[in-house]
Amino acid sequence: MKTKTLAFIGGGNMASAMINGLIEDGTPPGQILVAEPDESRREQLAARFGVRTLDDNSAAVRQADIVILAVKPQVLKDVAISLAPALEQNRPLCLSIAAGIRLSSLQSWLGEKVPVIRVMPNTPAMLGAGASGLYAPPDIDADLRDQAEHIMRATGIAVWLNEEAQMDALTAVSGSGPAYFFLFMEAMEKSAQKLGLEEKTAHLLVLQTALGAARMALESATDLDELRRRVTSPGGTTEKALETFTAGGLAALVEKALVAARDRSVELSESLGRNE
Ligand SMILES: NC(=O)c1ccc[n+]([C@@H]2O[C@H](COP(=O)([O-])OP(=O)(O)OC[C@H]3O[C@@H](n4cnc5c(N)ncnc54)[C@H](OP(=O)(O)O)[C@@H]3O)[C@@H](O)[C@H]2O)c1
Repeated sequence: MKTKTLAFIGGGNMASAMINGLIEDGTPPGQILVAEPDESRREQLAARFGVRTLDDNSAAVRQADIVILAVKPQVLKDVAISLAPALEQNRPLCLSIAAGIRLSSLQSWLGEKVPVIRVMPNTPAMLGAGASGLYAPPDIDADLRDQAEHIMRATGIAVWLNEEAQMDALTAVSGSGPAYFFLFMEAMEKSAQKLGLEEKTAHLLVLQTALGAARMALESATDLDELRRRVTSPGGTTEKALETFTAGGLAALVEKALVAARDRSVELSESLGRNE
């Protein structure tokens, strides 16, 4: 992709993660603008990444080929409405990373003719290990889709969704997902200590085991259930632990948790998008 000028509206955590990935992926820092109201944050971003910063959102949009809306969902409506006149002039591609804000709301705030793609990243994007979902309405052409995908691939993997409603499921799986694995690792760490391991040892063993299992699953073509079976000798220790998880209803509990997260995402979309 020919280097485009990117403007981030909001220079917080997720914007920083994406900027880090883009620069490591070869985007020249001079092609990245960040509009951010907090002066010390602007200074930090300029010092860390060498990007151009400014405090005027509309001025950033007027210079951009691609605009990334990276403010909190609660302030996005006001920010988007104030950007509409600048967007109307050059109609850059807009990517919204805001959780729960639907395209119908975005279009009505930004302007119906502005091309908008929704993206849902997750926090491992900070390490280039993110998992993002993208959704574009049918009238967005292949070139604009490629541009959006290229940006998100700089922070990890990127998958396209066929329907916008799947964003709520994706939010429940990969958006919130890192926290589920942290919770499971915390629980394993505490149990390991109860079994007599030192705190540091328990911590290292649990984290490396999680990383190793995720890498084995990602880097082999073998299904998860087969990988699990290969660790589970009949009558052995793993079998005892797995039987205990099953008896405790682990699969049903995971499903219940994901449904609760998905339903909350739908609820938030409805309340944040009100008064379109
Ligand atoms: N973090 C995640 O795990 C994650 C995952 C997926 C999606 N997202 C989405 O990413 C977006 C940003 O989240 P975040 O965690 O990066 O939040 P954040 O760290 O609070 O970043 C938002 C930034 O926007 C700035 N801002 C506030 N009002 C603004 C305005 N009027 N114009 C320009 N900038 C303004 C904030 O400045 P002040 O601090 O001075 O207000 C802050 O620096 C959210 O919509 C969220 O849903 C986040």
